[in-house]
Amino acid sequence: MRGVLAVLLLVPVLPVRAEDRDLKRFYEARCAVCHGADGTGRGPGGIRLGPASFADPKTFGTASDGDLARAIRQGSGAMPAFGFVLDDGEARRMVREVIRPMGPRKHR
Ligand code: HEC
Repeated sequence: MRGVLAVLLLVPVLPVRAEDRDLKRFYEARCAVCHGADGTGRGPGGIRLGPASFADPKTFGTASDGDLARAIRQGSGAMPAFGFVLDDGEARRMVREVIRPMGPRKHR
């Protein structure tokens, strides 16, 4: 819970372009229901929602941005496909600017 609050407090001060903000809003609207607002796969009450945490180094392994963008667009396991709303460029930006920053590799 404290982690979620830290993220929520941090988000407004991060410098984001308008389009980045839209992808963040998209994440909150369409992805956070399963992955959690902070990508840990936990809901606000700490309840496990299902998917592995983005913050766990094992979750992505050696997957490239392109691999993850493809997984988002085509679906992965229990995750529905989002290719009908995100084109390849948007999915890659989602990975780089929203998903990766929640992950273990802060500086690449
Ligand atoms: C219905 C629940 C659900 C929703 C909604 C959802 N995901 Fe997932 N996501 C999963 C599950 C389940 C996996 C499979 C792996 C795991 O357990 O983490 C996954 C995996 C992933 C992965 C890892 C890719 C891989 O190869 O497994 C990424 C990146 C990802 N999701 C991003 C997103 C994004 C971005 C959105 C919103 C556009 C989203 N997810 C919406 C459930 C969901």
